[in-house]
Formats: sequence, C-alpha cells, structure tokens
Amino acid sequence: SGTYLVTGAASGIGLAVADRLCVAGHRVIGLDLRDVDVCADLSTPAGRRGAVEAVLASAGGRLDGAVMAAGLGPAKGREDSIVAVNLLGVIELLEGLRPALAAATDAKVVVLGSNSAATTPFVPRRAIRLLLDGDDERAVRLIRRRRGVAAPVAYAASKLAVARWCRQRAVADEWAGAGIRLNVIAPGPVLTPLLRAQLDSSTGAQVRSFPVPIRQYGTPHQLADWITMMLSPSADFLVGSVLTVDGGTDALLRPDGW
Ligand code: NAI
Repeated sequence: SGTYLVTGAASGIGLAVADRLCVAGHRVIGLDLRDVDVCADLSTPAGRRGAVEAVLASAGGRLDGAVMAAGLGPAKGREDSIVAVNLLGVIELLEGLRPALAAATDAKVVVLGSNSAATTPFVPRRAIRLLLDGDDERAVRLIRRRRGVAAPVAYAASKLAVARWCRQRAVADEWAGAGIRLNVIAPGPVLTPLLRAQLDSSTGAQVRSFPVPIRQYGTPHQLADWITMMLSPSADFLVGSVLTVDGGTDALLRPDGW
C-alpha cells in the first residue's frame, strides 16, 4: 500500500477518489478548504506554500502519487481565483512535492483537466502563453476583456494551461526521468456539487444545451475508477497523456482533434 495526496478531497471527484484509495488499503492525505487532514486555501500564495509544507511533513518525504482534483468552476467575477486554484494550485504544489514523488518508485500523478479546455471558444492564445510564462496577472486582465464570457474563458484557459504544463513537464528528466508518471484526465460534465452549481445558476440553460452524445452525465465514481487505474501499475507506460472521458462531446465538436 502507498501514500497518496488527494486535493479537493472534501467533495465530488476528489472525495470519490479518496474513498476508493482508502478502501484499497492506501493512506490518503486529503487536502481541501475544510473537513480534511490538510486544510489550505490554494487560491493564495501563502496557502499553497503552507500546503506543500504540511503535505511533505505528513508524507514523511515520500509520496507514491497525487491526484490534483481541487478546482473552481466558472464562477462569475472570480477569474483570478479560478486561475490561482486550477493552475497555480497544481503547478506550485507539484513543483514543491516533486522530490517526495521522486523518492517513491513508479510514482503517479493525475491532474484534473477538462474537456472544456479544447471545446470552449474565444480562449485568447496569448493568455495561455502568459499563464505558462508565469504572468497570471496579465493573463487574467486579458481574459476579463472577453466580456460576458470571462468566467468560462478563465476556466477553459486554466485547464488548457495546466494540461500543457503537464505534457511539457511529463517528459522531462525531473519527471519521467525520475520515474514519475504525470498525466491528465479531462472529464466532460460529471454530476458533482460543481456541476450542480452551474446547472442551478443563470447559465444553467446553456450548460444543459451543451451536447453530450451519450445523453447522460458522468458520475464521480466512474471518474474515480479511471483515476485509480491511472495510479495503478497498469499505468506504468502512461506518460504525458490527456485522457478524455466525456460522453462523446470532444469527438463531436473536434472530430479532427486526432
Ligand atoms: P467539487 O466542487 O465537488 O470539488 C472541488 C473541491 O475543490 C471542493 O471540495 C472545493 O472545496 C475544493 N477547492 C475549491 N477551491 C479551493 C481552494 N481555494 N483551496 C483548496 N481547495 C479548494 O468539484 P468536482 O466536480 O469534483 O471537480 C473536481 C475537479 O474536476 C475540478 O478540478 C474540476 O474543475 C474538474 N472537472 C469537473 C467537471 C464536472 O463536471 N464536475 C468536469 C471537468 C473537470
């Protein structure tokens, strides 16, 4: 059995993953705003620094894997927090935890992306470049010019940037070269409190009209099964992949994406 960090462990997909890992006999370090082992606010630099320290101390310097599921949905006016949690909450944590992951053999990291990264229109390419260059303030200013759709654009931009960051890092000496498998899972709509909040908001009708060919939403437990597979020895050869699990939306909207 191993030791795994799960961020966003208090709700939705993160909670389902933490349950699965515990049942399988692993030790889980849950991180979230509340109701978990490590309470931290990933939207602030101090929160992210404190999170790294607390997780390293709790893990005793060795982590067999991490699931980065903490995330903020496209909430209006919160573009800066969306970028901070969904992007910086992943990259600053993983950079800080990398030595502990390298200390394990065959460590696995699964980052929650989203199929919206590929299917949302109007995401400024320059914003993605700025995000990957570490200039999130200018990126958010640029995103906020997309009036009316700034929040969904910020969400898609944060998920696109985090997926690109993962694919770039995944193949580097410090990651693949150190035996750490870094991969992304990109779900479509999954029935969790995050999706519920969107369905119940003023944009609910828009969310409902989003085409899902299989005509149902995913469940947190279905996603947790894919994620635990991506943490298992079956995934030793999986590196730098973005696994889309979305009921067919991506194939419908981007048939030439491959
Ligand atoms: P959720 O809202 O049920 O769970 C997310 C968790 O992240 C919550 O417990 C929340 O407290 C935590 N979190 C938010 N801000 C935080 C902060 N500043 N510091 C620490 N923790 C914070 O959402 P869900 O649906 O389980 O989402 C998990 C991941 O999957 C997210 O990254 C989301 O973007 C992604 N995703 C979800 C989809 C869906 O339809 N539910 C679709 C595609 C991606």
